[in-house]
Amino acid sequence: MATKIWHVLELLEWTTGYFEKHNIPNPRLDAEVLLGHLLDKSRLQLYLHFDMPVFQNDLTLFRELIKKRVARTPISYLTNRKEFMSLDFYVDERVLIPRPETEFIVETILNSNSDGDQRILEIGTGSGVIATALAVNRPEWEIIATDISSEALTVAKKNRDVHECTERITLLQGDLFEPIKLLDSSSFNWIASNPPYVKTCEHDTLCSDIRDYEPHIALFAGEDGLSIVRSLIAEAPNHLCPEGTLVIEIGDTQADPVRDLLEEQSVYKNIQFIKDYAEIERIVVASVD
Ligand SMILES: C[S@@+](CC[C@H](N)C(=O)[O-])C[C@H]1O[C@@H](n2cnc3c(N)ncnc32)[C@H](O)[C@@H]1O
Repeated sequence: MATKIWHVLELLEWTTGYFEKHNIPNPRLDAEVLLGHLLDKSRLQLYLHFDMPVFQNDLTLFRELIKKRVARTPISYLTNRKEFMSLDFYVDERVLIPRPETEFIVETILNSNSDGDQRILEIGTGSGVIATALAVNRPEWEIIATDISSEALTVAKKNRDVHECTERITLLQGDLFEPIKLLDSSSFNWIASNPPYVKTCEHDTLCSDIRDYEPHIALFAGEDGLSIVRSLIAEAPNHLCPEGTLVIEIGDTQADPVRDLLEEQSVYKNIQFIKDYAEIERIVVASVD
């Protein structure tokens, strides 16, 4: 008996139904993204090639991708891609998948009308999206980006180099401010961070796409989720220039305790919170004298 030839449209429809049956949240979108990834076509191109046959080799690979998605592997780890600030980044299971709300950190710094050359420190760079997006948009700035995870830094390096920012971003490994103590100057106009901020007790409440796949070192920060934020707030003044600014992404319910932590330090002024797309205070910005 002749083997059935599958075409793009019926493959999308079959996969969408299969994903629906397994409660995958955006079944049609995920089917399109995965098939587009496999066939190296945009979603628009797939629509223009609905009648295109998909041959056995690709079907075998597609079946593998479907299986992994049903096992809740995040789409970005299957395609190894994530867009951030309109730039294309490589991601894999060594790094957190960048979230849209983190773009507010980059936009805050870019929109600040900072004059002349700026020195920026990013702590916990992960895939390197914040540092790279800043360097692409402001080629004259000097950026140091750190992470405690050497595996994450391998990914950050790949993204930095693909976006031709090799000369402008220095990547350093270590805990919080430790790596910059070896530099000639540890004084910065901006210190930016999207640190881990999930409470350890929230482990079981996270959806499995996150809990079972994203690096725990990128997610969890002690019982109250503030262990890293607390250290950033305490130590940043020692590394900020006069009028320098700290920008940190925080969790859903952390605005009040974070305001208290900043006020306790007495060196911070102009404490502001920026809301995300869900109207949650997501980014805190505070300057020193
Ligand atoms: C939430 S992820 C953010 C990654 C990336 N900046 C982004 O926004 O997508 C936090 C990052 O902080 C790093 N990290 C965790 N603890 C750290 C520490 N004590 N010192 C430096 N980096 C740390 C993790 O390895 C992870 O890459």
